[in-house]
Parts: sequence; C-alpha cells; structure tokens
Amino acid sequence: MAFRWKNDLTDRDVTDEAVWLNRRQIMGGFAGLGLAGIAGSAHAATDEPNSWEEITRYNNFYEFGTGKDDPAKYADAMTIDPWSVRIDGMVDRPGDYAFDDIMAKMTVEERIYRFRCVEAWSMVIPWNGFELADLLNLAGVKSGAKYVAFETYLNKDEMRGTRFPVLDWPYVEGLRLDEAMHPLAIMATGIYGRDIPKQNGAPLRLVVPWKYGFKSIKSVVRITLTDREPPTSWNKANAREYGFYSNVNPEVDHPRWSQASERRIGGGLFAKNIPTRMFNGYADDVAGLYDGMDLRKFF
Ligand code: MTE
Repeated sequence: MAFRWKNDLTDRDVTDEAVWLNRRQIMGGFAGLGLAGIAGSAHAATDEPNSWEEITRYNNFYEFGTGKDDPAKYADAMTIDPWSVRIDGMVDRPGDYAFDDIMAKMTVEERIYRFRCVEAWSMVIPWNGFELADLLNLAGVKSGAKYVAFETYLNKDEMRGTRFPVLDWPYVEGLRLDEAMHPLAIMATGIYGRDIPKQNGAPLRLVVPWKYGFKSIKSVVRITLTDREPPTSWNKANAREYGFYSNVNPEVDHPRWSQASERRIGGGLFAKNIPTRMFNGYADDVAGLYDGMDLRKFF
C-alpha cells in the first residue's frame, strides 16, 4: 500500500499522535497495512494504537532490569552509534553491515501491528521498519540454510541487568527461514515516525507480530544463517514453558496461566481484557507456514 516514509524525520517533524491519528483519518482507515489489515473487523475499536508513552514506558528489556519501567530508566546508557550488524553463516556476502549502510538500502514503511506478550498483555504499535527478507537478501541466503539466529548487543557496563544471571546473556532468538522471509516479519527502526527509542530496541529490532513478544529480539548485532534450529534465550531458561515457535495461540495455555485472553495496555489502570486471537489475528497470512504441524507439540 501507499504511504511509505523514510525514517529520517526528526522529533520536530512528526508526532504528536494527535497529528498522526488525524492523518490516518484523512487516509481513510488504517493505512500502510499491506497484508495485515487490522481495521474493518469487530476488533477495530480495540485496535486503536497505544500512545507513545505506553509503548516507550512499559517494556521488557531484561538487559536493563526486570521491572517494566527499568528499560525507560536505564537503557539510555547503551551506545548505539556506531552500530553494525554482523551477518554470517550460510550467506553469500558475510560481513559487518553498518547500520547507516543498511538504512540506505532498505525501504522503510509503516506497519501497525498488534503486539502480544507471552505474559498476556498486549498493545498496538505503529512501527516503522523494513522487511527482514530484504536484509537477508542483501547478504544473500545460501541454499541449505533453514534457520535464522539473532543476537542482542551485550555490554555489562552499559546494561546493568546483565550483571545478574536472569538469562544466559547475550539474549538470543531464532526463526525458521520461511518465517523470517515472511513479509510480515520486519526489522523495526522507528515508532510513530521517530527513531526507535533505546528501551524498545534501538537502533533495530525484530518484530514478528504473530508470535509472542519475546521472539521480537531487541538491539540486534548479529544474524546467522544456519541449517540447525538455533538456541533461544527463553527456551534455554525454561523449555517446558517457552517453545521455539511461540506462535500466539489462545488454545495452548502457558503452564502457569491462560493464554485465552489478554490485557490491552491503555488508559492507565484501565487495561481492557480482550480475547486472544490465533496467530495474534494474522492467521490468514501465516497459518500456511504451519500446515500439518501439531501446534501443541511445536508450541
Ligand atoms: N529482547 C532483548 N534483547 N531482551 C529482552 O528482555 N524482551 C522480549 C522482547 N525482546 C526482550 C527482548 C519481550 S518478553 C517482549 S514482550 C518484548 O521484547 C517487549 O518489547 P517492547 O518493550 O518494545 O514492548
């Protein structure tokens, strides 16, 4: 769909969400959705985007602490300039790709996605980003590659949470190659047209909207193409509770809580409880990736 923008706007150029919402109304409904329409259904009313404050002050980024407000307080210490992403493994052009060079080659567009944390809260976030497939194609995926492994930046001086063995640092994640190549999978570099804040995973983080939020690994420094299913942080921490796939699925409960509904963050204390949808509402686009798979076994 139309309405792409380069993410080089300054805070001054954009947003105020009031302006943004206005523009959306002028565009006549949700713009820039491409494959993933979230308007026009009974859910439209509950799918209002969250505010900048909600999105940037209620976070999970354990490298800065386990409290929801820790990342906003402490992520400022993280150095993000210069930044490069090492792309290696089964690729034609392995190397360190400077963030600025990546941005010069990618098409940044807006994607308004629902975001569902495994902890049963959710938001709607207007990301700016580019398709992960475009980045992988830049490096050239070799035939035989089956999975993509991701790794987060690690600096114990800058990331106070990593002084504690909450997880096995660095934070790592993974996708099957066909999941990674799916057009809904993006590398986000902005929110509401501004550069993505550090607490949300600056300067670039994965967003896989049909999976639980922990798959959407932040502040990525390394992407490795491989033929083996890569280890993932939460699976290493507790394999019974967190599978490799972690597709949003209201029918498969977490061992300690139900996944049938979610608390939509918003309005301060007045978070709404709404039903969770299969693949977070993106089933039409992604269910085919899992044809014939037992989603209880491969949770
Ligand atoms: N990435 C890293 N490196 N460290 C983390 O602790 N938390 C994950 C995911 N990515 C996490 C991470 C979890 S549990 C969620 S729900 C989302 O980031 C939260 O993203 P947000 O803070 O932008 O909403």
